[in-house]
Amino acid sequence: MTIENLLRDNIKSIKAYSSARDEYQDASAKMAFLDANENPFTTAVNRYPDPQQSKVKEQLAEIKGIETSRILLGNGSDEVLDLLFRAFCEPNVDNVITLPPTYGMYKVLAALNAVELKEVLLDSNFQPKVEEIIAEQNNKSKLLFLCSPNNPTANSFDADKIERLIKDFNGVVVIDEAYIDFSDQESWVSRLNEFPNLVITQTLSKAYGLAGIRIGICYASEYIISVLNKIKPPYNINQLSQDKAITRLSNLGKVKQEVNSILKERHRLLQQMDGISIIKKIYPSDANFILVKVDDANKRYSQLIEQGIVVRNRTSQALCQNCLRFTVGTSSENDKLMSVLKNLN
Ligand SMILES: Cc1ncc(COP(=O)(O)O)c(C=O)c1O
Repeated sequence: MTIENLLRDNIKSIKAYSSARDEYQDASAKMAFLDANENPFTTAVNRYPDPQQSKVKEQLAEIKGIETSRILLGNGSDEVLDLLFRAFCEPNVDNVITLPPTYGMYKVLAALNAVELKEVLLDSNFQPKVEEIIAEQNNKSKLLFLCSPNNPTANSFDADKIERLIKDFNGVVVIDEAYIDFSDQESWVSRLNEFPNLVITQTLSKAYGLAGIRIGICYASEYIISVLNKIKPPYNINQLSQDKAITRLSNLGKVKQEVNSILKERHRLLQQMDGISIIKKIYPSDANFILVKVDDANKRYSQLIEQGIVVRNRTSQALCQNCLRFTVGTSSENDKLMSVLKNLN
C-alpha cells in the first residue's frame, strides 16, 4: 500500500491556490503591500493572516517534539476531518469505518461527502473488536476512525489493539486525540515515524480552553500534510485565532494547572457519584467527562435541565442506553451537579 494510491485521482493532480500571502509571507516587514487588494488603513486585522500559521505551528512543534512540516491546522478538528474525507474518499465509491458509540461528526462528514459508512460496534468494555474491523474492510475502505479517549464512553483504547489496526488496516488510520491531555495514555504523535498510514488529530478546544477560536491540529507524514495543505482553504485560521493561540501556547503552566484541577475534580465526582441511587453504573474516565448509566436517562435529563444543568443525553447511542454524559466543570458547578443528582426522585 502506498499513501498516494489511496488518494482520490482529482486530488493527486490538483494544484493549490497560491495566495498573495503565500508568495510574500512576512506581512510585518516594511514593505508596501499592494498585492492582495486589502484596505491599507490599519484596523489591526486589515491584512490577510499567515496561510501557513507559522508561529502557531512553531510553538506546537516545540511542545510536541515534531517538525512543523508534519503539522496542519484546521478550523477546528472538524475541518481537519473533512479535509481527510475530501483527500481520500471518492464520493459514492469509497467507504470509511467507525466504531460506535463514538464522536458523531464522522457519520455527518461521511453523509456530507457521500461516502459509505461501515460501523463496527465497540465491545462491552468499549474496546475495538479488532478481528471484526479487519474483516469488515475491503479495497474501498480508505479511513478508519479511532477516537481515543473515546467520546462519549471516556475510555482510551488498548495500545496493542490500536497498533494491530494501524498495521492491518489497508487505508489511513485516524486517531482522534481530542481528549489526550486528560489521559494516562501516551499520544501516538511520538510514533508517527513508524507508520506512514497514521494520522493524528488533536484540538485546542478541550484542555487548551480555546473552543471559541476553532483550531484543530493534524499530525501526519510530510506527504499527507502536503496533500491536505493543497486542498485546505487558503486562510482557514483567522488572525485573531492565531494571535490568541500564540498567547495561550506561551503560557503552558496555566494550561497544565487547569488540566490538573479538572483531573482532581473528575476524581472527586467519580467518588461522590458512587453512592447516588439513580446512578446504576459509572464508567471509568480518561477524559474531561464521565459517562454514567442512570435508571431513566430521558427523565433525569429533563429534571437536570429544570434545575439549570445541561448535560448530554446519550441514551439513543449504541451501547449507551440510559446513559448521560457529564462534562467536568468548575468545583462549584460540580457541587451543584452532585447536590441536584442526590436529591432527584
Ligand atoms: C472526539 C472529538 N473530536 C473532535 C471534536 C471537535 O473538536 P474541534 O472543536 O477541534 O472541532 C470533538 C468535540 O467535541 C470531539 O469530541
